[in-house]
Amino acid sequence: MRPQKPADSAPLAKDTIQAALRTDILGRALIEVHESIGSTNQRARSLALGDAGEGTLVLAERQTAGRGRLDRVWHSPPGLNLYLSLILRPDLPPARAALLTLAASLALASAVSDVTGLTPDIKWPNDLLLNGRKMSGILSEMELSGSNVAFVILGVGINVNLSLADLPEDLAETVGSLAIASGRTWDRTEALAAFLTRMEEYYLALKAGRVEEILQAYRASCVTLNSRVEYIHKGVRIQGRAIDVNSAGELVVRRADNNQLVTINAGDVSLMKK
Ligand code: BTN
Repeated sequence: MRPQKPADSAPLAKDTIQAALRTDILGRALIEVHESIGSTNQRARSLALGDAGEGTLVLAERQTAGRGRLDRVWHSPPGLNLYLSLILRPDLPPARAALLTLAASLALASAVSDVTGLTPDIKWPNDLLLNGRKMSGILSEMELSGSNVAFVILGVGINVNLSLADLPEDLAETVGSLAIASGRTWDRTEALAAFLTRMEEYYLALKAGRVEEILQAYRASCVTLNSRVEYIHKGVRIQGRAIDVNSAGELVVRRADNNQLVTINAGDVSLMKK
């Protein structure tokens, strides 16, 4: 008899995913699992423009044009990780819907802890770090219809079973995964189901207006807060201390050079050594 493949390396399959789901909305409208695709965000966007329902889930074993924030590439090798996009149609003002990415980082951190017992740090706005290595990223793209939100594509990359040997040289020092942090592999379907469960909890909390609760939980897990940070503004390197994440999800920094408070809503912020 041929040995059974361990669950960890089993391909993602729609029926196994459906059986593992504990959600009412996310993953319930439509699930697509692609062997290979350019970008799951791109595919979810075209489905959303064609009226696909809230909670539609697009997954891929591999992306050939995986996209990150700030026009970066998302390294998406086959069969190891989770690359997924959700279609959300929140009846929320755009400013409130912008908090979805913070909620998604919290959901992901909770799911990682549920499944593995590890506690990732959240680096503002939405990177998860294990032992200082980035193990996931979130790319959320909002489509407006006038001044309302038509839909949000919540794209999430989670490095699950990626090993150091799978990383190109330029990522070898900075990128991590659940496997790299724990020394063992994990069941991707279980990780996915845990994320969707937590994400649905936070999504419903946001829709119910429980914003302060989400912000408080976020502030408690965000390693950027109270750290010395550096960011580039108009080509100039600015240093300061991150003192808050405000109700719009922006980072509030006290500049070291002039003591002024500035809010940062995009871009890249690096943590400086303590
Ligand atoms: C980041 O730069 O940190 C965000 C990375 C987001 C990657 C995910 S993988 C699934 C989805 N499809 C994409 O092309 N990007 C997102």
